[in-house]
Amino acid sequence: MSIKTAVMNGVSTIEIARPEKKNALTVAMYQAMTDALLAAKADTSVRAVLITGQPGVFTSGNDIEDFMTRAPGQGSDAMDSPVFRFMHALIDCDKPVVAAVTGAAIGIGTTLLLHCDFVYVSDEARLAMPFVALGLVPEFAASLLVPQLMGHRRAAEKLLLGDPFTPEQAVDCGIASAVLPASEVVNHARRVAERFNALPPGAVREAKQLLRAPLREQTLQAIRTEGEIFGRRLRSPEAMEAFQAFFQKRKPDFSKF
Ligand code: COA
Repeated sequence: MSIKTAVMNGVSTIEIARPEKKNALTVAMYQAMTDALLAAKADTSVRAVLITGQPGVFTSGNDIEDFMTRAPGQGSDAMDSPVFRFMHALIDCDKPVVAAVTGAAIGIGTTLLLHCDFVYVSDEARLAMPFVALGLVPEFAASLLVPQLMGHRRAAEKLLLGDPFTPEQAVDCGIASAVLPASEVVNHARRVAERFNALPPGAVREAKQLLRAPLREQTLQAIRTEGEIFGRRLRSPEAMEAFQAFFQKRKPDFSKF
């Protein structure tokens, strides 16, 4: 099983555990994470959710083989695909979500952080959203929330060029809460999650809703608009060239497009 889940001391932990593929996320893994989020929402003993990875890697993003063979459909089909159901479960989670970014966070590994409430990053982590280099476009409201967090100039570096960024830069531009030594990041994130055991859950829930409310409709609209374009681009010759180049361990050649 590539997703480990556990509920302990008021915290539902979702651990991405597929280190041999750098924690790349498959359809089955999105399904398992969705189930865990929905269970956490329904379980009154759970006061917060912790999402974490493996030492050295949080997640290398969507499994690129899945992109090639099991791409989400388009239109309403796409909205019902496992990755969309996962993102909606994350956005609709009314309990605080804490991320412990234990290492590389690529693609959706970074965009999912936009929908968490606390993001603690290992000092060895690297974040990147290389969608354009893969022939794709930003997803899950990154085109809305990243410029909103850091302004168009820095967003362009991260979303058009796909430049990787350091943990310190992630804090500086508002994606992350704090940088921790690699050996401490999970424990620190867990301690923050456990603090919700001492707080009134109804007030936490309503306060979280209020914090997210101003951008909620725009976020959902951005996800739909990006999803349409992303679904089309997944089937584009540019994306195919990028995916094949990844598996052939060579640089993609976009000169023919
Ligand atoms: N999808 C599918 N397989 C992936 C993967 C992904 N997103 N990321 C890594 N893997 C696989 C590699 O193909 C390799 O498999 P192999 O051992 O069968 O050859 C294995 O995981 C190890 O990856 P490797 O690239 O050799 O590790 P690395 O330490 O040199 O680099 C990363 C780590 C995360 C920087 C690199 O794997 C990477 O860039 N991955 C793709 C990131 C990406 O573009 N994600 C999609 C964003 S939309």
